[in-house]
Amino acid sequence: MKRFQIIPGDITAQKVDALVNAANETLLGGGGVDGAIHRAAGPELLEACRALGGCATGDAKATRGCGLSAAWVIHTVGPVWRGGHLKEADLLASCYRRSLELACSLKVRTLAFPSISTGAYGYPLDQAAAVAVAAIGDFLVTDRHLSQVCMVCFSKAVQDAYEAAWRAWRYRAEEGV
Ligand code: APR
Repeated sequence: MKRFQIIPGDITAQKVDALVNAANETLLGGGGVDGAIHRAAGPELLEACRALGGCATGDAKATRGCGLSAAWVIHTVGPVWRGGHLKEADLLASCYRRSLELACSLKVRTLAFPSISTGAYGYPLDQAAAVAVAAIGDFLVTDRHLSQVCMVCFSKAVQDAYEAAWRAWRYRAEEGV
């Protein structure tokens, strides 16, 4: 499945139709990916986010890209890791699924994700990577709109985790186990 790529880099440098932002429920900015995207997009992005009235954990909402080269920013809110018994995996999978659904409804063809919830929100990287690649892989099996989905990894540790998770998912998918 060449439509999913795991690449190193800064999500704000990606030349895609839409960037996915790892936001918080206020959608009023923050650090990490959120801070980087808002810095790159400029103050109009915050104004556009104010109009959205927040976003529930596991859901996704879109704004125009403002100063970014991307036409859209899809803001999604990952779960804060609280030990794994409060539906964190379901909520994280929902972030990827809702972002992919929203991208398709916006006629987006190329999309870049960050590693949602694995920074400030403390989600264990290997577990988050397994949830993310399964949600993305399962979606792309039936989707015909998206031509390219990238996971943009800000460090080698993140890239290694996603590559390992993706290999495992593809093995299970091919083995039908
Ligand atoms: N490009 C790609 N990945 C990045 C970038 C970037 N410019 N900056 C950080 N990352 C990576 C981090 O290394 C981490 O692997 O994105 C992943 C997610 O980290 P966070 O940005 O901290 O996101 P998250 O864990 O989902 O926490 C969200 O943090 O910034 C606040 O407002 C945000 O409250 C929200 C919370």
